Amino acid sequence: AIRQSFSTRAQKQERDSWNYVQPQASYKVAVLGAAGGIGQPLALLIKMSPLVSALNLYDIANVKGVAADLSHCNTPAQVSDFTGDKELASCLKDVNVVVIPAGVPRKPGMTRDDLFNINASIVKSLVEAVADNCPDAFIHIISNPVNSTVPIAAEVLKQKGVYNPKKLFGVTTLDVVRANTFVAQQKKLRLIDVDVPVVGGHAGITILPLLSKTKPSVTFTDEEVQELTVRIQNAGTEVVEAKAGAGSATLSMAYAAARFVESSLRALDGDSDVYECSYVQSDVTELPFFASRIKIGKDGVEAVIKSDLQGLTEYEEKALEALKPELKASIEKGINFVHKQP
Ligand code: NAI
Repeated sequence: AIRQSFSTRAQKQERDSWNYVQPQASYKVAVLGAAGGIGQPLALLIKMSPLVSALNLYDIANVKGVAADLSHCNTPAQVSDFTGDKELASCLKDVNVVVIPAGVPRKPGMTRDDLFNINASIVKSLVEAVADNCPDAFIHIISNPVNSTVPIAAEVLKQKGVYNPKKLFGVTTLDVVRANTFVAQQKKLRLIDVDVPVVGGHAGITILPLLSKTKPSVTFTDEEVQELTVRIQNAGTEVVEAKAGAGSATLSMAYAAARFVESSLRALDGDSDVYECSYVQSDVTELPFFASRIKIGKDGVEAVIKSDLQGLTEYEEKALEALKPELKASIEKGINFVHKQP
């Protein structure tokens, strides 16, 4: 035991000196829309990551104070602020991961699709800048309606000749986070153990939690499946209504987005065991975009886990067929938006 503790201490010293010479933090992350309800807590969580060396915060207003505030946290990431169009290119220079929560959120009574007109233009112009300045970066789209804004981003990148489908991600992590929380509560499981894949899209019935694929394996009654599925699909609206006009989910969204950023950075850093659900270009169904569990590697999407869609329950099969027309329409709306533009 004594010998073991010596060797552990020696190993620790060696590791510490290695860390000193070769700091862990080496990735640059940009947040576009960083002064917003999601942007601020998301920036804080990213600032806490030991893998981040530079955190570039961009917004059309109010970002200077956010950056000054965060810069006092004694973690490695160097925080910089960028305001308005003229500073967008420098914000994006040499960035590895770009996260986009820019846009307007829902108010009670609104669907995510009601945000289309404003957010479609915002995402289009931001992704144009990404294409011009950091075309190799992982792009994480949070701005709603994600079902349409991801196809918009893809078309913009294609027009610019830099589209890499492996590096464009619609952030649906919050649906998984919610599903895991609700299932753990319902089944009295340890939260850390629970993982529910959520597929399809990110709005209403297009959000399809595959409860039959829950890990650890659990059984649900038909009523439980119905209740949990509907709750997961409407969880965003639960928050919109509770906030009563003051916006939509921001804190849980920031948590979920930070998890997706951290997973991407681990993958970039060589971890070969990184899996998340995300809305990506896909051939698992006849739809060109679909959220699935994916394996993320250094070059982006390394594999889409198709087996999740095999052996579904009758309820899940039906829900999958039912979501397709809505998801298809949202994808087409996004694509048409870009092609109608001058
Ligand atoms: P917010 O209104 O609090 O913040 C949005 C920020 O974007 C503001 O600071 C605003 O100045 C900025 N902005 C607007 N136009 C911009 C532009 N052209 N360039 C850069 N920044 C710009 O809204 P919140 O609550 O942060 O939500 C942001 C978006 O995230 C909404 O579209 C919302 O629907 C979406 N969302 C997505 C979720 C998901 O699961 N993917 C969950 C929750 C919200």
